[in-house]
Formats: sequence, structure tokens, C-alpha cells
Amino acid sequence: MTSTRPPRASTYTGTGEVPVVRSIVPASVAAPYAHGDVCTLVVFGAAGDLARKKLLPAIYVLAAQGLLAKETRVVGVGIEPLDDDGFHALFGAALGAAREVGHVDPTIWSDLRGRCSWVSGDLTDESVYTELRLHLETLEAARPASEGHRLFYLAVPPVIFAPIATHLAGSGVCPRTAADASSPWRRLILEKPFGHDLESARALNALVLALFGEHQCFRIDHYLGKETVQNLLVARSANALLEAVWSRQHIAHVQITAAETVGLEGRAGYYERAGVVRDMFQNHLLQLLALVAMEPPEKPGADAIRDEKVRALRAIEPLVVDGHTSAVRAQYRTGQLGDTGVVGYREEPGASPASTTPTYAALRLFVDTERWRGVPFYLRSGKRMAKRATEIALVFRPPQRLMYERCEGEQPEPNALVFRIQPDDGMSLRISVKVPGAALALTPGLEITPVELDFAFADAFGEGMHSAYATLLLDAMRGDATLFTRSDEVEAGWALTDPLLHLWEQSGDTQVPTYAAGSWGPHEADELLAADGFAWRKP
Ligand code: BG6
Repeated sequence: MTSTRPPRASTYTGTGEVPVVRSIVPASVAAPYAHGDVCTLVVFGAAGDLARKKLLPAIYVLAAQGLLAKETRVVGVGIEPLDDDGFHALFGAALGAAREVGHVDPTIWSDLRGRCSWVSGDLTDESVYTELRLHLETLEAARPASEGHRLFYLAVPPVIFAPIATHLAGSGVCPRTAADASSPWRRLILEKPFGHDLESARALNALVLALFGEHQCFRIDHYLGKETVQNLLVARSANALLEAVWSRQHIAHVQITAAETVGLEGRAGYYERAGVVRDMFQNHLLQLLALVAMEPPEKPGADAIRDEKVRALRAIEPLVVDGHTSAVRAQYRTGQLGDTGVVGYREEPGASPASTTPTYAALRLFVDTERWRGVPFYLRSGKRMAKRATEIALVFRPPQRLMYERCEGEQPEPNALVFRIQPDDGMSLRISVKVPGAALALTPGLEITPVELDFAFADAFGEGMHSAYATLLLDAMRGDATLFTRSDEVEAGWALTDPLLHLWEQSGDTQVPTYAAGSWGPHEADELLAADGFAWRKP
């Protein structure tokens, strides 16, 4: 179960340089992580953008950490006319460019390269699957001791999910397996976006589940593979201190921020149709909210956790009521990121000069459960923001009674518990302290200031190689679906965002509010919180 997973053995220094951490890390932390089952990992779209930027580096990270079983083979499949050597060259170049990989160890890479092969073809064409089946059978025959497990990663545009899934099942390359059949297993990892709206997501789920069992389907949301996101579950369940205050009795509001400095990055074709709500909220931000808002599951296991997440998502009050919403959208205009001037969204290559696609949104949500009733959850995400920062902040209610006299209007800053997801993964707790010597204790005019108690994963465990995709690939190879979204979770997300998307997209508006690239978003988003007496944090 996720909450018992130790940090990577290979990145934990165990030197004792960080005593506060060492004292709470159990001895089992030194035990190496079990590697994934021996299998053949087939990556559809292995020469594409996602594969080169994320998947191929993640496969190397697993190999370097001893988490990819020695006998495991990697097969790239794509339309590109490559051979094995061509795939190796592409793979090597991807490693050279990947930040999380750092230095490529020649021995590890040479071993991994020898286990990678390529199959070319049009993925929507049935004949490729005959060739793929023969190729897989040859690989499997060469290692008779292995059980012939297969993992298929669909790193392809969603429009070709359906033909690929149909051919995989029809050709017998990836048939439906019974939930209790352990060997050989056949699994699929499905990339986002999973549908364009509720209707298309339902249709896709229906198609996939007509061909495969839910236990075979691993719908990926890479945010769930991030270390600090997993840490949120651990923090909630392993610390009585946090568990005790995790409710409306103590928390005034919750802020979830995913701010990016990047712009379109050449993805206009996808983004113009998607916009920020489909791209970031329906999946990543709602998943983070679900992890904060869910009840602790009664038993361990992927389904128990996912049941609770679905319950939390379904308890969110509708975003649109009688045509009104507590949501703000905006698009970035020309601005300045540090010393660099950047163009506005409408001037980006491929974007329409009259586009109203939002690149920023801020929402106020309420989760109608006993634990959270009445507590606003503010979610915001935007491209071309002032800073890259993803965090979850739980802001506490003010103290009931003070033991000192204060001047009129003087309030201590509220406590805030912050989970920093990226960069600089860690946690902090803002508390108020007396400024030494500034005034007599407990007298009016006493100077009080907020300070941060801070924990950074890198300080405690070293920098190491971390990759959300590596975590998720490993989990899929081990059959742990905890960090993957189930069909009902995906649909619950769309059920919430659909009315908002409909409201905005049917409005006929030819203009949307704008914010300067390099800023913290539009003033309308500040007003959303100000109306409730709150303000956005500046991460
Ligand atoms: C992806 C979105 O799912 O997540 C991108 O499609 C976004 O638009 C990315 O940039 C953000 O991921 P991360 O891990 O960089 O926060």
C-alpha cells in the first residue's frame, strides 16, 4: 500500500546528517525496493514527444535503480521507419536531454540498450499486430523461465486509443484476462486526456472495458506518481498531529496551486481544443483535491483508496448553479518572464488570433461532507505564470483566544500547512512567534511574526533521480493500481467540469479576461478570494 512505501533506498543517504529525519525513518528504509515483474514493456508511440521526454528516461531511471528486472524487454512501436539501431539512437538522445536522468552510466545504458527493439507500422493497421505478436513470442521464447507478462503503454493521441485497443484484443496480443488469473498478466497504461468530456470519456471507458477487465487498465495521471503527492497520503495517515486537525473545525480554507512558467510549447493543436480546465483541472488538480478531501479508507488496497477518492469527488457541489459559477478564466497576454519578453497566447504559433481558450482558471469548490462542509477549496492553475510552483496549502482558522493583549485590528497570521509538490519538494508549517526583545511579553504592541518550519526532501534524502513516470511504470509492472485512476474517478471529474466548460464554451464570448505573462494571474482571481476575506498565497 502506498502509505507504507519507503523512500528509494538508492537515494536515502542514511549518513545521519539530518538527525530529525533519521529519528523517524524506520529501519526498513534500507531494504531495497522490489523490482517489477519480468515482462515485455511495449511502448506505442515510442518516438513521440511524451516517450522521449518522460517514458524512455523513466525506463532508464528504473534500470539504474535496479528496479527493472534484468530479463525485462522494451519494445518501441510507431509509424517512424526505424530499426533497432535507430530506436537505440533516439533512446540515447532522449536520455541526454532528460533532467531527471543526469549522468548516463555507460554500463547501465549498454545493458538496457541491448534489451530494446523496435517494430514499425501504422498503429491503426491490423497487420502491425500480427508482426508484434510474432516479435513478442520470439522475445518470450528466448527467456523460457519468464512468465510472458506484457505491459502496453499507449503514449499516443487519444483519437487512436480505440483502434489500438481493438486490435490489441482482436489479435490476441493483449486478450482480456480474468481478475484472479495471475499469470501471464496483460496490462495497459492509458495516457491522458481520457476523453474530451463526460460523454466521450464514458464511451472510451465502455469500449476499453468491453475488451479488457478494469484490473488490466491503468489510467495514468502523472501527478499521482509525484513523491510529494504520495507523501500527502503518508502525512495524513502517519501523523496523529495532522490527522487531528484535518477538518473544518480547524481548517479555514484550502488552496491548491499548479503554476507553470511554460507556455504552449508547440502544442497548439491539442491545447486550443483543451484549455486549462481539461488539461489540468479535470485530472491533476481534482486528484490532488480528492487526496486532501477523502476519508481514510477502512482497509488498505488500491480499490479502498480509490473508492474514497470517488466519494470525495462526487461530494463536490456543482460548479454551475442557475447559470452562475465561482470560477474565473483568463488567457495570458504579452509579458515578461524574468528578463525575457514572451508573446501572448494569441500570438503563439498555431493558436488562433481570436482564441478564447483559457490558459488560467481559478475555482472555488465546496466538498459537502461532514469533514469539509463550508470550507472553500480554491484551485488555480495557469501557464506563463510568475513562477513554477505546485503546492497544496491548508490554511487554519484563527486562534479562539489569545493569552496576550493585542492592539486593535492586530491578528496573528493564520497557521498554514503547505505541501510543496514541485519544485523543492517538501512541507512547511507557518506558525507565529514573538519577536525577541521587541516588547514586553503579553503587553499591547507585542511584536508577533510568522515563521516557517521547513522540511525539504532533498536536504533529508539527497537529490537522487525522481520521476513520477518511473514510479507509475514500476507500480504497473507490480500490479499496484493505487496511483492510477479508475473509470468512475475519471467520469466523476468530467461530471464536475462539464457544466463549467459548457457554460464558458457556449457563452459566445469573443474576449476572455487576460493576465500579463509572468504575473500571478488576473485580478478577478484575487477578487474571488477577497470576497471571502482570504488572499492567494505567493509560493
Ligand atoms: C500535463 C499537461 O498533463 O501536465 C501540461 O498536459 C502540463 O500542459 C503538465 O504542462 C504539467 O506537468 P508537471 O509535471 O510539469 O507539473
